[in-house]
Amino acid sequence: MNPTAAPTSGAGTRQDAPLVVRDVDGPLEMADCVALYERVMGLRPDDGSLNPRLLTALQENSGLVVGAYLGAELVGFTYSFLARERGTDGQGPRLYQYSQLAVVAHERQGLGIGRLLKLGQRERCLAAGTTLIRWAYDPMQTRNAHFNLDVLGAVVDALKPAMYGTSGFGAATGESTDRFIASWHLDAPARPAAPAPCRPPGGWTVGQVYDDGDDRIVVLPDDWYRLRAESGPERAARLRGRLTHTFARLLADRTAVSCVRLPDGLAAYRFIPRAAAPGTAPRP
Ligand SMILES: CC(C)(COP(=O)(O)OP(=O)(O)OC[C@H]1O[C@@H](n2cnc3c(N)ncnc32)[C@H](O)[C@@H]1OP(=O)(O)O)[C@@H](O)C(=O)NCCC(=O)NCCS
Repeated sequence: MNPTAAPTSGAGTRQDAPLVVRDVDGPLEMADCVALYERVMGLRPDDGSLNPRLLTALQENSGLVVGAYLGAELVGFTYSFLARERGTDGQGPRLYQYSQLAVVAHERQGLGIGRLLKLGQRERCLAAGTTLIRWAYDPMQTRNAHFNLDVLGAVVDALKPAMYGTSGFGAATGESTDRFIASWHLDAPARPAAPAPCRPPGGWTVGQVYDDGDDRIVVLPDDWYRLRAESGPERAARLRGRLTHTFARLLADRTAVSCVRLPDGLAAYRFIPRAAAPGTAPRP
């Protein structure tokens, strides 16, 4: 697969080395991916990790391991494996790539590298005839949500409470591992940016659901780790439980299509009626 070279300035990166998105190649580069993953996720020694052999095996067997390089330096990578939807619609199983993670080095985040990486993953999927990528993310991580929904154009159509158990790892130690399932329909037409939610007369309240025509807006803190540090783990866990319950209720007949930052340290998800959602697919 051809590498994709991005203009250096477009990714806000160094002047002397263009950013190149390409397949990760060989055991040493796979080991670089593992080291980057551990660094970005702040893993402790007993948190468990990836290993280079697994990445190699995935890449050799219909999975994808795609890296973003500045010269020889790995600054981000994403990996995924081929998955099969449980045929709930009578149309037989559909294949998709399940993307287990995407990470960009802390000092390079917010420069457009993650977007280029995901576009590299998309390009490879389409070349193989795959038109859907799914992945899971913590609904409370609102910047990541914004990246998934507003920047990439994925949608959220399912929730898995405590997907990996009641305590996460790294920075999320002690947190329930609730996950939204994002679906990125690669053949769906690009959708227009979602409108910013209108502030209600009394201002926003965290945890509240607001009507916006047929849509529903859910307000939450825009920096979950700060909220947890300031209000303590017990209050944060109670709020997480409430929000997760609200999300589950809304996802019964709705799809999340946007998550934007509001003033005063808040963020808002937008849920639209499922029938109006672009490229809505049966749940995995
Ligand atoms: C999520 C992640 C891969 C995005 O990569 P990135 O290179 O920072 O993303 P881009 O620069 O292409 O896009 C930035 C957009 O995503 C949002 N974003 C998400 N996470 C962000 C972060 N940590 N820092 C800055 N922007 C972030 C920004 O709001 C921005 O949107 P905007 O341009 O409308 O303001 C990267 O931030 C990351 O590695 N985060 C930590 C690991 C993680 O949570 N991975 C996803 C779950 S496995």
